Amino acid sequence: MKMLIISGTPKDDGLCASLVNAAAGAGRADCAVVTLPKLKIEGCRICGDGWGLCRDERNCVIDDDFNRIKDSLPDYDSFVLITPVYWGEVSDVMKHFIDRLRRCEAGNMLQGKKFILVASAGGSGGGILFCLEQMQRFVAAMGAGVYDYIGINRWNSAYKREALVKAVQGLLSEL
Ligand SMILES: Cc1cc2nc3c(=O)[nH]c(=O)nc-3n(C[C@H](O)[C@H](O)[C@H](O)COP(=O)(O)O)c2cc1C
Repeated sequence: MKMLIISGTPKDDGLCASLVNAAAGAGRADCAVVTLPKLKIEGCRICGDGWGLCRDERNCVIDDDFNRIKDSLPDYDSFVLITPVYWGEVSDVMKHFIDRLRRCEAGNMLQGKKFILVASAGGSGGGILFCLEQMQRFVAAMGAGVYDYIGINRWNSAYKREALVKAVQGLLSEL
């Protein structure tokens, strides 16, 4: 049973990175990690009249790292999305990734798979709920399901990190 952790943080030593490490440690050999800001993932160009080739060919015309990651997704049974909250939303590159994936999903490649959604906020803590909802809408569009929602800030990070570990272990044991 394989799990892919998809991170939207550019920081190697922040709260999100500690969550990625906790989740990967909990999943051990079953987990792989993709850090989106380390890759080239542009925003959707909105080809044609709103629908591009992605709708029929399930591939994006942009020549970057997106198609390679997309094509690897059927290898995994479950996913953890971890994003910092930027301006009350998921990080820019996480948005690019889920927007483009949603457009390529006509093949239902993630139908029935399970996601753990994690939003990590900074100073105000504002935006966690919106981020979780943004990611939930993406998961629903993929025909997949949410196993757990985890909102984290600097005050609750210790016990929420433990909750993430338990969620990863619980999900992997169910599959
Ligand atoms: C461009 C930018 C926008 C941010 N906007 C918010 C915000 O709207 N609400 C909030 O609570 N924190 C905000 N933050 C703080 C980040 O959410 C916080 O640093 C991050 O979630 C903690 O994880 P990290 O240490 O991995 O960055 C923002 C940070 C950046 C860089």
